[in-house]
Amino acid sequence: MKLAERMDLLGTETAFEVLAKARMLEAAGKDIIHLEIGEPDFSTPAHIVEAGIKALSEGDTHYGPSPGFSDIRDAIAEEVSLSRGVSFSGENVVVTPGGKPIMFFALLAMIDPGDEVLYPNPGFPIYESMIRFTGGVPIPMQLHESLDFNLNIEEVASSITDKTKMIIINSPNNPCGSIVSSNNLKDIAELAVKHDLAVLSDEIYIRFLYEGEHISISTFPGMKERTIILDGFSKSYAMTGWRAGYGVMPYDLVEPISRLVTNSVSCTASFTQKAMKEALIGSQIDCFEMVAEFKKRRDAIVEGLNKIPGIRCALPRGAFYAFPNVEETGMDSQTFADRVLEEAGVACLSGESFGSFGKGFIRFSFANSLDNIQIALDRIDQFVRSTG
Ligand SMILES: Cc1ncc(COP(=O)(O)O)c(C=O)c1O
Repeated sequence: MKLAERMDLLGTETAFEVLAKARMLEAAGKDIIHLEIGEPDFSTPAHIVEAGIKALSEGDTHYGPSPGFSDIRDAIAEEVSLSRGVSFSGENVVVTPGGKPIMFFALLAMIDPGDEVLYPNPGFPIYESMIRFTGGVPIPMQLHESLDFNLNIEEVASSITDKTKMIIINSPNNPCGSIVSSNNLKDIAELAVKHDLAVLSDEIYIRFLYEGEHISISTFPGMKERTIILDGFSKSYAMTGWRAGYGVMPYDLVEPISRLVTNSVSCTASFTQKAMKEALIGSQIDCFEMVAEFKKRRDAIVEGLNKIPGIRCALPRGAFYAFPNVEETGMDSQTFADRVLEEAGVACLSGESFGSFGKGFIRFSFANSLDNIQIALDRIDQFVRSTG
């Protein structure tokens, strides 16, 4: 089959490739600790699963409205208004199978060929992939290790041209674990207003916050009208496989984005939406306990990594990734990631998987038990010492 040329523009997520390689090694008898995949190792809380099962047995197995059922949209609007401190109604919400479609649909709806889109680098690889695929030109905004993985606003300002249409931000950030500072947010908001830019604010890790408070860029003057908030249930409620996400956006984007839903997936699974509602209105205890556990893991992995010669690791304030710099081990990050998997049995991702500015770094997901994290740290330590 001859593929369309546009397929050359579409990237992928290395995490899935490394997972496949790690599984092959396991099949060949090697013991692997998985620190590559970005999904909570917790089960979806039982009351949410029960709501999904109940919905299935009561016949919630049919098509629903493209933007989502109105009661779910209202519940999402209520939660987002509370957690962000900006008031939204259900009419601002489009429910999608996961948060990813919101990236894709927002870009499809707003980006013409040649339009420039600024995106964080290191950053979630799908931003760059989808910008290219929709005909846009990806312009990286470097997250600097020396700035606590924040942006240099002069650099951002000088990247803006008359072709710039959108800025993507992600806080807490994958892969750096950084939080966009309130100064950075204020400056980005001012630039967005000055140059009339849309902002896609990926807030999927909002609940995984270990210090400080979450500030959404939508709270800054003039921003509610130009921000698309992306969020979902995959991470916060350990619901990756349910495919449950949403966007909160200005009214005039809701119809075009819903039309993209109609043209692609029709709607989000009806029983998933019932489970989403239970997640929002039911007990939040499991979610808090999971985040508390992740904080312990974060502290353990960062402390352990910083004891290994040649590795320095900043403290991630959110998400569930440690992103250490490994340059002083003498290995480039791709070699480090390949060898630590093959020789030490620890699966992780090279920083380049998250863009050119990720070179020299490794992403370790701490979505694994404290015991396994400790074993992984011992193995990485032995591996680095043996190469030194
Ligand atoms: C930064 C970021 N945004 C969005 C997503 C999308 O998640 P989902 O489509 O499962 O909601 C992910 C998943 O890894 C992510 O890391």
